[in-house]
Amino acid sequence: MNKINLKLKEQANNYPSLQLSDRHLCDLELIMIGGFNPLNGFMSKSDYNSVIQNMRLNDGSLWPMPITLDVDDKFISKISKSAKIALRDKEGFILAVLSIEDVWKPNLELEAELVFGTKDIKHPGVHYLLKTSKKNYIGGTIEKVSSPHHYDYKNLRHSPDELKGIFKNKKWNKVIAFQTRNPLHKAHFELTKRAMEDLNANLLIHPVVGMTKPGDVNHYTRTRCYNHIMNEYPKNSAFLSLLPLAMRMGGPKEALLHAIIRKNYGCTHLIVGRDHAGPGLNSNNEPFYGPYEAQDMLEKYQDELKIKMVPFKFMVFIPKSGKYKAIDDVVEGEEYKTLSGTELRQLLDEGEGIPEWFTFKEVAHELELSNPPLTKRGITIFFSGLSGSGKSTLANGLLTKFLEEGSRPVTLLDGDIVRTHLSSELGFSKEHRSLNIKRIGYVASEITKNGGIAICAPIAPYEEDRKFNRELISNEGGYIEIFVSTPLEKCEERDSKGLYALAREGKIKEFTGISDPYEEPKNAEIVINSSGESPEKLVEEIYEKIVSMGYVKKVT
Ligand code: PPS
Repeated sequence: MNKINLKLKEQANNYPSLQLSDRHLCDLELIMIGGFNPLNGFMSKSDYNSVIQNMRLNDGSLWPMPITLDVDDKFISKISKSAKIALRDKEGFILAVLSIEDVWKPNLELEAELVFGTKDIKHPGVHYLLKTSKKNYIGGTIEKVSSPHHYDYKNLRHSPDELKGIFKNKKWNKVIAFQTRNPLHKAHFELTKRAMEDLNANLLIHPVVGMTKPGDVNHYTRTRCYNHIMNEYPKNSAFLSLLPLAMRMGGPKEALLHAIIRKNYGCTHLIVGRDHAGPGLNSNNEPFYGPYEAQDMLEKYQDELKIKMVPFKFMVFIPKSGKYKAIDDVVEGEEYKTLSGTELRQLLDEGEGIPEWFTFKEVAHELELSNPPLTKRGITIFFSGLSGSGKSTLANGLLTKFLEEGSRPVTLLDGDIVRTHLSSELGFSKEHRSLNIKRIGYVASEITKNGGIAICAPIAPYEEDRKFNRELISNEGGYIEIFVSTPLEKCEERDSKGLYALAREGKIKEFTGISDPYEEPKNAEIVINSSGESPEKLVEEIYEKIVSMGYVKKVT
């Protein structure tokens, strides 16, 4: 039951309000429910300094990384006379009141270096700090007004006290926590079962459903998978609970945070694997941390934290016996199988089906449903090029080809159409063009997410905006950029709308190619020059390329 502190809520209405980001919301929830115990608010300046320098709070307790409330300069100017602020969710509901202790400008680069050991923005935690985080921190204690609203999987969300109560009722004295941000497969099942048997303990499957690594399987799909796998454990031996943590992908330090959280939730053990909470590869394609650094870190601090580490043994499938075993136990010459994340994605892309030795049938089915093969997945085809380069003609031709093929609904977002229906109030300044391109990107990302084909054909003269769209849309499905590279002279010679002539006369200002820049795409998947060939041939050429990338079947 979500009890709301009405008195505090009424007072909070008079305080300056901060709308919380996704990360703030996760952190706030864990502070309020006790998952981040002993934190009782966002870190003060002295706790922050102590944590980044020594991994300890002022009171000496171990704490590996900052939990901070970042805000912009505008908000700081609003709170100069306030002692308290109201923290609101995205819909405007007040969740908590923060009593301000400190306001300061942190050195974010130093924080990145000290906490993550790098300033490389390929590290998701560093990327967040340097590219997303606002430049001021506010520290202070929290008073709860209301729990954050969750509409999904309500019966799988628990506070530490609730979970401890459940363990007590079940008379579970030893509970091994399994932290994950991925779907579980047979190897995980085998290793968790073995850990239970070895330690004569019970199991808490405790997946992170707050923020994980960009590109991860979404938590809805994962939770459906977890629900299936829970049926495989012996009755009454394992429990599933979802953790609203925003991961920082901080490797060894994050492993320490995971241990503190699990201790707070009443667990006695935590499974720690190879490359626990690993952030991927750095700009030199090397791992940020050693594969066993997280295990070494926990080894060092487990006694102080009063939770024991269970080192994860990498499990492999032995076809001869049809069983899993730890890789260390594989004897020389013995055949074994594994499947990497990349190989799994490839099988899904090609609609090949996931082998039964690797995962449970029900889990495979969930993954196949949410990752249809490329030929059935949503996709955006994003044309860019000068006015008169032939974008619209090619986009219209491609639209017809897709309609003929018929696998998915298709939408054309041509430059002129968009400027009539979506961006009629916008002009051609850099700012307005960016806004226009981002609007197109947003609509295309929604179409792509829902399994359709979006064909966009604006000029899109700025690399930054194209990059923004590419990142946004690639999270939802396929993305193909087509640079229509027809030279300016050719476009001007065609001048089908008579605009180049007007631009040369100075009657149209900020005209792309004449009095405004066009940054040529450097990463386009397809480059097409429409000067020499007929549009029919060029459309065929583009379609063939899309077929060869696996997104669509050939029309015969
Ligand atoms: S942008 O930069 O991507 O927002 O431009 P876009 O929305 O694609 O432009 C759509 C059409 O507007 C006409 N037009 C101009 N283009 C460039 N610069 C200026 N100043 C300008 N004023 C009007 C032009 O015909 C664009 O259509 P296409 O189809 O590219 O010829």
